[in-house]
Amino acid sequence: MDRRSEKLKSLPEYPFAKIDRLKEGVEKREVIDLGIGDPDLPTPTHIISALKEALNDPKIHRYPPYNGYLELRLAISSWYKNRFGVSLEPNSEILPLVGSKDGIFHIVPSIINPGDVVLVPDPGYPVYFSATILGHGVPRIVPLLPENNFLPNLSEIDTKGVKAMFINYPNNPTGAACDIEFLEKLVLWAKENDIIILFDMAYSEVYFEEAPPSILQIPGAIDFCLEFHSLSKTFNMTGWRIGFCVGNKDIIKALLEYKTNVDSGIFGAVQYAAISALTGSQICIEEMRAIYKKRMDVLVRGLSKAGFNVQKPKASFYIWMKIEGKSSDFSEHLLQETGVVCTPGVSFGKYGEEFVRFSVTNSDEKIDEAVNRIIKWKSSL
Ligand SMILES: Cc1ncc(COP(=O)(O)O)c(C=O)c1O
Repeated sequence: MDRRSEKLKSLPEYPFAKIDRLKEGVEKREVIDLGIGDPDLPTPTHIISALKEALNDPKIHRYPPYNGYLELRLAISSWYKNRFGVSLEPNSEILPLVGSKDGIFHIVPSIINPGDVVLVPDPGYPVYFSATILGHGVPRIVPLLPENNFLPNLSEIDTKGVKAMFINYPNNPTGAACDIEFLEKLVLWAKENDIIILFDMAYSEVYFEEAPPSILQIPGAIDFCLEFHSLSKTFNMTGWRIGFCVGNKDIIKALLEYKTNVDSGIFGAVQYAAISALTGSQICIEEMRAIYKKRMDVLVRGLSKAGFNVQKPKASFYIWMKIEGKSSDFSEHLLQETGVVCTPGVSFGKYGEEFVRFSVTNSDEKIDEAVNRIIKWKSSL
């Protein structure tokens, strides 16, 4: 019996659940997974030590505060100031999250009334769409097209009934980045149209060119913007579930009030580990970038050699590659012929249909092996 609500039934299958099913049909040892963006690199040891040490404090095992320890909010504030040059008020403009997905999902029911329109980028991180549907909002698709460098064309957006807009740079899945000039235009446009900007910077530290800017660098943006950050990709902590959001105090207040009804905060030891990550040496981030850059070069070169039209991304650990035909057919075919998993672009929305996404979150050896298999397969056709 299908016990799901009508809203839940209306959602497309979460993309990675589908890929897992496909993988089941292929010999386990054969599979090289370049599908999901889950860092293979280890969490830096000083962060793990901070967690272990915190575990010895009996207080840490009790309910944590809903808005996180003040010490963590202070650590976020100083990290943010160093990285973006923006000062934040730790009690009202910062909220730690159970991973940024927590905030991205729960912001919708916190600020949206039934029928309010939410702008959702396509292709985009699937949670923007599902959060909007499950939060009783109405998603309106904003296409991200290659001819616009995967940035939205603001002048073409129908703003009628729009309350908020999700937007994400560095971008998953396209690997695009935006510059400060684009953010200036976005802030001006959002102010004119009275739209709350929900800016997702989960990949803020995974970049290969200039360091990506924050939307809060734009004067006045804090009046109506909320920005999401994650320790998942920056410090290889996807399983730890820790992130934060920063921005307008009234929006943060609404999110905190909503979340107080949902969860009971982030485990204290994880918060102390996050403090260690944010206040400790940041060299681990540079090392991570160097590793991804090297892998990216190998994979881009390999895919080009195999005959694909592929560009190096500006940021993120994803390659967004144009293909011919349907993306799920391509992914299925690639998996069957080579054992290499890539994500069909359609999983990120209909504008992703003619693309597939490769992630470099697998070892150098596996990426070399994937490249060899793909070249061999293509040359045999
Ligand atoms: C664009 C984007 N935003 C947010 C997230 C959520 O990350 P987390 O909840 O681990 O912080 C992801 C995860 O893949 C993502 O791709």
